[in-house]
Amino acid sequence: MCGIIGIASNKSVSSNIIQSLKKLEYRGYDSAGIATIVNGNIDEKKCSGRVDNLEKILFKNPTKGVSGIGHVRWATHGIPNTLNAHPHSSEEVSVVHNGIIENSNQLKQDLEKKGYKFKSQTDTEVITFLLTDFLKNLDLVDAINKTLDKLHGSFALGILFKKHKDIVAGARRGSPLAVGYGPKENYLGSDSYALKSMTNKITYLDDGDICLLTNNRIEFYNSKNKKINKEILTLSNDKHTAEKGDYKDFMSKEINEQNITVKTCIKEYIDQIRKGINIYNFPINPKEIQKIILIGCGTAFHSCLTAKYWLEELTSISTEIDIASEFRYRKIKFNKKYLYIFVSQSGETADTFAALDLCKKNNVKTCSIVNVVESSIARNSDFVLPIHAGPEIGVASTKAFIGQMLVLYILAIKLSEVRGEISKSDYEKNIFDLKKLPDLIKETLDQQDKIQIIAKDFLNAKGAMFLGRGLSFPIALEGALKLKELSYLHAEGYPAGEMKHGPLALIEEGLPVVILAPKDRYFEKTISNMQEVIARGGKVILITNENNKIISENVRFTFEIPAANNNLAPFLMTIPLQLLAYHVASLKNCDIDKPRNLAKSVTVE
Ligand code: F6R
Repeated sequence: MCGIIGIASNKSVSSNIIQSLKKLEYRGYDSAGIATIVNGNIDEKKCSGRVDNLEKILFKNPTKGVSGIGHVRWATHGIPNTLNAHPHSSEEVSVVHNGIIENSNQLKQDLEKKGYKFKSQTDTEVITFLLTDFLKNLDLVDAINKTLDKLHGSFALGILFKKHKDIVAGARRGSPLAVGYGPKENYLGSDSYALKSMTNKITYLDDGDICLLTNNRIEFYNSKNKKINKEILTLSNDKHTAEKGDYKDFMSKEINEQNITVKTCIKEYIDQIRKGINIYNFPINPKEIQKIILIGCGTAFHSCLTAKYWLEELTSISTEIDIASEFRYRKIKFNKKYLYIFVSQSGETADTFAALDLCKKNNVKTCSIVNVVESSIARNSDFVLPIHAGPEIGVASTKAFIGQMLVLYILAIKLSEVRGEISKSDYEKNIFDLKKLPDLIKETLDQQDKIQIIAKDFLNAKGAMFLGRGLSFPIALEGALKLKELSYLHAEGYPAGEMKHGPLALIEEGLPVVILAPKDRYFEKTISNMQEVIARGGKVILITNENNKIISENVRFTFEIPAANNNLAPFLMTIPLQLLAYHVASLKNCDIDKPRNLAKSVTVE
């Protein structure tokens, strides 16, 4: 998704803007641009494609401005080309924008009537011309507020002014925006990650806030043009660096470090001395929670689905799951005895945030499970449980998915204990087993060469299916999602028991079908479903912890995960599926870390 950088300094800012834009590349984008004020004029440079292209343009034609804004764009209105890349400038102002202006067509017509000539197909240019128009009669803050009043939708803005060469302005409604404090310069960023290499002192703008930055001053204003004070936060240090190291790409690094991220997370939540779980201060007395509603998008939604099985198994709390983009528009019957849990790696996903906001407006208690503790979702929920996975750069979520499941599983065990629904010995046994998880993950990762061989079978396939029952069902969904997003191969995840109700029609000679069958209470049933697939010519890849030659007959490949507590099987089955998607995509020469059309932080709905 789009990313914003702004720097107000007393020395040339272009190379720092480029470096910061590179930090935002993980979000997924299709064009890039920068603007500074040089000799009293706006100097705008932009290009389609990568920040590297922009760097080359600047190498040939450097820009010397001491304040500037930069942007990576993920196309919403208008194709990804140089003309539609941000910034969008008039004679007076230059604007970078994240989000969507829903009434841009109407505003464009009004502005055209006033004589403004639009160059791009974007919704952003209306902001440029509205500001230009208001600046004829108003000061900066008033002109920005009057512009914001006209806009419908969600947005974060970075703005430069021809007549104020040392000022960078920012404004937000809906989309996140952070201000960073440096010793001799100040910063604007669409997320704190991009600012981290320059400062760890941050202030987050709230909806309706405006900021004006110079190299030695930061001012905040509200929507009534009144100066306001804002809290300065110190960002946490990441224990894991966001460098690739010796790995070919971030995704293989992130898959291969899961034993370590899981170990870190377990250490954070398991009290080594008391052997208990360190989760206290629930926003509702856990004994009084009548229902848990888990909400997320994409991979995060799949982790919610695994949690439903664990919570139902371990506690008496009834559990519902919801996709954030659906939840936010339904007529939900909110209840103060329910706990609403939001799962999000980035903590910035627009739909998940909107669903959280709806809960807040209805005065119900919220908990968030996030990777980025400084994120909007974390900051706005009553209770935060971090997953401690370190920065996840690959667009396809891997270690964050495992981390989300882990925290949800730990939460389920904790709730069963505090509600008195588990015996002391079972509680301790679950914790004891959980501590073995990092080694079990390592053991599974050590078999990755086998997956490389299996991946070849998918190269000429026209699709693939992933089937599982119980806790393996969400993992089947996740396996299919990973394969589609990385290798662009059509894939379906299904509960194995649903096959006869339609999808069995898809099975034909040679179709790869991944069967997830750990030795749990569903095992025999899943194996029967597998036989039905084999009978119709499906090429089965069986993932199981049951070493049984008879069952493996007629199976193309069997991948054995280590035997473990049944509740841990989802973690172990996920690993070969991540590797499978990775290797199929590699064989097809797909861009592993930045799959086409996708973004890491989905800040528009
Ligand atoms: C898939 C993937 C996405 C995200 C989804 C939610 O690999 O990464 O499906 O899971 O966009 O993102 P977060 O977790 O940041 O809310």
